[in-house]
Amino acid sequence: MEFFLDTADVDEIREIAAWGILDGVTTNPSLIKKSGRDFKEVVREIASICSGPISAEVTAMDTAGMLEQARQLKRELPDNVIIKIPCTPEGLAATKVLTEEGIDTNVTLIFSTSQALMAAKAGATYVSPFIGRIDDTGHDGMNLIAEITEIYNIHGFETKVLAASIRSVQDIIDSAKFGADVATIPPKFLKAMYNHPLTDKGLADFLADWAKTG
Ligand code: G3P
Repeated sequence: MEFFLDTADVDEIREIAAWGILDGVTTNPSLIKKSGRDFKEVVREIASICSGPISAEVTAMDTAGMLEQARQLKRELPDNVIIKIPCTPEGLAATKVLTEEGIDTNVTLIFSTSQALMAAKAGATYVSPFIGRIDDTGHDGMNLIAEITEIYNIHGFETKVLAASIRSVQDIIDSAKFGADVATIPPKFLKAMYNHPLTDKGLADFLADWAKTG
């Protein structure tokens, strides 16, 4: 399973990339706004820190506009930048064209299995089901991950399932259990993954005993 960071905060990305287990980064317009930085400038910097896929989202609503933005991003940004596209009819059409052009895509704002099925048929490289936002509505986001991975396996789709809108460490574990290829994780949950009080206590005890040896 791959770990992506779901942030445009370059300090957090740099810190976590140093652990050696970061496979990619996802951004969206809200995360870019939160960074307070210019879109292309911050994506360029992220792509220089992490060599894995960096999702940059188009904001046009029509297919021609999406394609124009996507091609411009591919021209102006590093090779590891991939194109994030909303799951709309126009977005599916753009995904199909970009796939034919050999450009990797991440179809986002997936809230149903039928949307994931259509995105796979359009040739999406990744689909991003938003599990936390589904949970927020009182439904079971993890069930969506399980259903999509099952259907992709049955039909041999190569599209990767990227669990997004992660709200806890347990969401990451459950995504792994249900076969998600990737989880895109806010920095605070990736940091929470290694925390365990017994690790801290065990280490303190070892170091105290070590200090008392010859
Ligand atoms: O990258 C998109 C997705 O992860 C958004 O998460 O927390 O805004 O629902 P959230």
